[in-house]
Amino acid sequence: MSAVSFDPTQKLIVLRLRTSFYALRILPDGQVVHVGSGPAPEGNAPMVLGNLDAYEDPNYVWDEGGRRYELPTYGDIAYHHVGLKVSFPEAAAPLGKQDANHLPVRDLRLRYLKHEIRTDAAPAYPPAHGKPARKSGVPRETLILHLRDIAYNFEVRLCYRITPELDVIERWIELHNLTKMHVTIESLAFGTVHFPQGTYELTRTAGSWSREFIPVRQNIEQGETVLSQFGINTGHAFNPFYLVSPRGKTTEHAGEVYFGALAFSGNWALRFEALPTDAVRVYGGYEPTGFGMVLAPGESHTTPAFVHGYAGDGFGGASRRLHAFTRDYILPGFDDGQCRPVLYNSWEATFFKLSVDGQIQLARSAAEMGVELFCMDDGWFGDRRNDHAGLGDWIVSKAVFPDGLQPLVDEVKRLGMRFGLWVEPEMVNPDSDLYRKHPDWVLHYPGRPRTEMRFQLILDFGRPEVVEYIYNALAALLQTYDISFFKWDMNRYATEPGSVAGSAIWQKHVEGLYGIMDRLRKNFPKLDIQSCSGGGGRVDLGILARCDQAWTSDNTDAQDRTYIEDGFSLAYPPRVMESWVTHEHNLHHASLDLRFDVAMRGALGIGTKIDQLSAEERVHYKRKITFYKKIRPVVQNGNLYRLAMVQDGGASVWQSVTPDGSQCVYSVVVIHQLQGHHLPTYRLKALQPGAIYRITDETGAELARYSGSQLMGLGIHGDSRFGGAGCAVRSRTLLLERVS
Ligand code: DGJ
Repeated sequence: MSAVSFDPTQKLIVLRLRTSFYALRILPDGQVVHVGSGPAPEGNAPMVLGNLDAYEDPNYVWDEGGRRYELPTYGDIAYHHVGLKVSFPEAAAPLGKQDANHLPVRDLRLRYLKHEIRTDAAPAYPPAHGKPARKSGVPRETLILHLRDIAYNFEVRLCYRITPELDVIERWIELHNLTKMHVTIESLAFGTVHFPQGTYELTRTAGSWSREFIPVRQNIEQGETVLSQFGINTGHAFNPFYLVSPRGKTTEHAGEVYFGALAFSGNWALRFEALPTDAVRVYGGYEPTGFGMVLAPGESHTTPAFVHGYAGDGFGGASRRLHAFTRDYILPGFDDGQCRPVLYNSWEATFFKLSVDGQIQLARSAAEMGVELFCMDDGWFGDRRNDHAGLGDWIVSKAVFPDGLQPLVDEVKRLGMRFGLWVEPEMVNPDSDLYRKHPDWVLHYPGRPRTEMRFQLILDFGRPEVVEYIYNALAALLQTYDISFFKWDMNRYATEPGSVAGSAIWQKHVEGLYGIMDRLRKNFPKLDIQSCSGGGGRVDLGILARCDQAWTSDNTDAQDRTYIEDGFSLAYPPRVMESWVTHEHNLHHASLDLRFDVAMRGALGIGTKIDQLSAEERVHYKRKITFYKKIRPVVQNGNLYRLAMVQDGGASVWQSVTPDGSQCVYSVVVIHQLQGHHLPTYRLKALQPGAIYRITDETGAELARYSGSQLMGLGIHGDSRFGGAGCAVRSRTLLLERVS
C-alpha cells in the first residue's frame, strides 16, 4: 500500500510514516499549503481534523502565518522570509517604458498543475560511485508536486521522498525554466518545514577549530535564528542539523522532536523563523549571502536534500533515526556487521618529519598492537616539508622516499594491514610547481589580493580542467600503489571566491569535490575515504554519501573529546566518528584507560608514538584493541542511547545496543565530579526484560549477572564499581551479553 494518500474531495495529500505523518493541501486557487505533521493517529483515523476552509481565503488571514505555504515564494502573500526568490529581468520587453522602474519582475506565484508518485527520483548530487548505500536498492516513494507560475512558463517541482520505517522525509526542489527568458534565482531553500503552532527550543551544535560539535540548547525566540556557512566546506562553527522540541517538554528519552539535516557540504543555511503568532518554520537550503544562479531558457536546477522527520521518543529517538538513516541510506554500502578497521595515523607521532624507516617502525608497532589500517599523514609529497609548500604537487617526494612509497606499502601489506594516505586535493601552496605553472587555477578576483590561510589557496573547481587534473593526480597514486584509504583533508575557509563559474562557484566546488570522490570510488572499488577539514569541518549527509568515516576534531584530548563526541552523536552515528588514542599529556593529563574508553566510542584509531611505548603499555594497548574488536559490532552498528551527557552533570554515559537487545556496550566517562556529589543511577534501555546478562570488562572477567528488567528498572549507579567512585576523572567500558 502506498504511504502517500490523496483525498480528491478535500485535495488533501497525506504522507504516512511509521509513527508520524505529514499533510498538505491544494487550495482551490492552486496554492499548496502545509496542514499538519507530528504523531500519526492509530489505524486509519483521519490525519487532519477541523475545518480547512480557514486556509482558503486570504481576506480572512492577516498574515501568511495562518497560511503555511509548502514553498513560500517572494510573490503572493509573503511578509516574511521565503524559500524561493526569483526575478525575471527580461520580462520587460512586452511592457511599456512607463513601467521601467517596476522592473525586473520579482513576483513568483506558483500554482498546482498535478502530482505524481515515483520510486526513482533523487535529489541533486546523489552518489555515483560503486558502493551505493546499504538500502538504496529498496524502492522509496517520492511525491512530486508540479507547480507553475501564473504568467510565465517557469515550473517548480516539490519533491518528498519518504522512508516510513525511520519517520524520515527527504525534501528537494527542482526548478525548470521553460520560458524564453533568463531567470535569476536570488535565494533558494531545498525545503521549508512548518512546525505545529507553538513555542520551541532548538538543540544543535556550535564550535570552532578543535572545539567542534559542542551541544547547545536555546529557545527559538521570535524573529530569526540562523545557522549557516558560506564556503566550500560544512564549517566548524555550525553543523547543518537540528533537533526542535516543544519548549521545556522533551527529554533525552521522551517527548516530541522535529529533526532535520542538510545533505550539502558548502554554502548552506538553516533559517528558523518564529512569528509573534507562534507560527514557526525552518528554511533549509543555500545560504543567500553570495548565492547567485541564473537559469538560461531551458535550464533546470535540482537542489540537494533537506532530510527531516519526527520522533516521539525524545532527543535520543531523533538521533537514532538520523543514525539509522545515515547507515542505511547515506553511507557507502557495507555488509551486515562489517566494521570500520582499527586505524593508525602518523600525524601526531611524526608531523612533517617523515622517513621510510620511521614510518616502517611505526607500522611494525601498530601491526603488533592489532591495527588494521596504517595511514601516513601530511608531508610525503612534493616539497612538503612543512605547511608552507608543496600542496598541489601530488608526486612522492624523492628526498623523503628515494624509492617511492613501494617499500613502505610492501611492509605495511606484509604486516597484514591496509595502507592509507593523507591528501588535500582542493588546495595549492603558492610555493608549488602547480601554482607556478597555473597561477590562474585558484579562486581569485583579477587584480585583487589572494588571501592565504595556512599558506594555501583554493583551486578553482569551476574549471573542468582543474577537476580533471586533480582526479588524474589521485588516480595515478591509486594505480601505482595499493592504497585503500584516503584521508581527504581541507584546511582553510574560502575568501575571494572569484571563479570562471562566477557566483555558481559554491555549488560548482561541491559538485567537483563529490564528482572526484565518486569517480575514484567507482574506478578503485577498494578505496575508502575519510572526510577531514582541519578536524571536523566537513561532516554532513552530502559528504558522508561518499566517505566511510569522518575525522571528528583535531582535538584528541580525551576530556575535551567527550564533549565533542556527545554533540557529534546528536546527528551522526558512532560508526563514522573516527577517534584516536594519543599521548598521555595532551591538554589534560589522561590515563590510557580514559583515552581508550573515549576513543572506543566510535571508529577507533591510534595516533601515539606507538613505537616508543613501554612493555607495560604495549600489553595494555593490545588488550584494549582486542577488546575493542569484540565490542565494535555493537558500538559501530548498534543503536545508541545517551544515558547522560557530560555537559549536564559531568559524566557522559553511552549505551550501544544490538537491535534485538541481546548485547550492549556500556561506556561511562566522568570528567567532572565535585567531592561529596554522587552521580545518579543510569537505567539501561532496550534490553530484553526477562533475559540474564553477564557483565564483563576488557580482561574478560565477569563482574556480575543481572536481568534485563533489573538493568532497565533499577539501573547502574554512577558511583558504583561499574563506573568507579570518588571525584577523579575516570572511565569504564563494559560488555553486557545475554546468557539466558
Ligand atoms: C589537519 C588534520 O585535521 C590533521 O589531522 C592533519 O592531517 C593535518 N591537517 C595535516 O596537515
